[in-house]
Amino acid sequence: MIVLGVESSCDETGVGLVSDGVLLGDALASSMDAHARFGGVVPEVAARAHLESMLPVLHEALEKASLGLGDVDAVAVTAGPGLSTAVQVGLASAKALAFALGKPLYGVHHLAGHAAVDVLEHGPLPPRCVALVVSGGHTSLLLLGDLGRDPIVHLGDTIDDAAGEAFDKVARVLGLGYPGGPVVDRVARDGDPHAIAFPRALSRPSDPAYGFSFSGVKTAVARWVEARVDAGGEVPVADVAASFQEAVADVLTRKALAACREHRVGTLLLVGGVAANSRVRALAEERCAAAGVELRVPPIRLCTDNGAMIAAVGDLLVRAGAPASGLDLGADPSAPLTGALLAGPWT
Ligand code: KG4
Ligand code: ZN
Repeated sequence: MIVLGVESSCDETGVGLVSDGVLLGDALASSMDAHARFGGVVPEVAARAHLESMLPVLHEALEKASLGLGDVDAVAVTAGPGLSTAVQVGLASAKALAFALGKPLYGVHHLAGHAAVDVLEHGPLPPRCVALVVSGGHTSLLLLGDLGRDPIVHLGDTIDDAAGEAFDKVARVLGLGYPGGPVVDRVARDGDPHAIAFPRALSRPSDPAYGFSFSGVKTAVARWVEARVDAGGEVPVADVAASFQEAVADVLTRKALAACREHRVGTLLLVGGVAANSRVRALAEERCAAAGVELRVPPIRLCTDNGAMIAAVGDLLVRAGAPASGLDLGADPSAPLTGALLAGPWT
């Protein structure tokens, strides 16, 4: 079975082709540059860019996989969560393909795609694992069983900003531009991660063990920078970036390992855009090694949004014998993560 996956929930238009856990080919277009001057993704601009990129990206992915549309056995698509108008473009494209090819359509949860993509690099997931999903819109600690079959258990979520959102906002405060994650990561390399002690929220014993909050650290960075500017001092951008990054990496990895310990799980899956962060990866590696926990992190290229991840989760659903979604499937911009399949319809 060859599964074609379509991703369009934010500013990346992605198409991937996966069969039996193997990536056959994928292609990606990004409208990131068009949003840069606005300091964040503009939904209408993203949606128009998806429209323009969808067919070229589809053809490029097929070409890379040396396949034709006639080889496709099933179509998977992000049905949510994401920017409504952006999701709609991928969904309409995927429906058109499924209908024209006479093949089943699977609406999938974007975050399940982030988790599933690791299969393409490191093989099948173990029967149970803890997943730390850290993206621009979400930060969650999950207990995963069989991703194609089992419900997803939330151990904890962020109560305010997502980790990626905090990176983007801190980058703005430091005048580093958009998107913030990669540039904060780069700048932080020349900084001292212990220069400034930024807060680690929800870290007291009475706090929810697996809950996250990143709004406080973001505000703390803004206040610190403001105070320095008011005092007429130079802002040590690299030190601020490194100290902020350390605070985020520390909280994320400490809670993830506590979850592995409490639930007696031997594998931590670190996924989503922020899993591309060099310090988050390094600290996770260090702490997993110390705890005897296997760490699985997709290669950086597959951490941020792409079409391969949607094909990967579609492939798991197909192999698990999941029921296809109907062509009346709607977009669910704020879909809760309860399982990989989004069957709809929504209005
Ligand atoms: O998963 P993703 O590509 O899109 C969503 O589903 O949200 O994640 C995007 C987020 C952005 O906030 C971006 O700043 C962040 O991931 N990100 C990073 C890095 N690369 C991307 N954050 C920290 N360090 C990075 N190297
Ligand atoms: Zn994502």
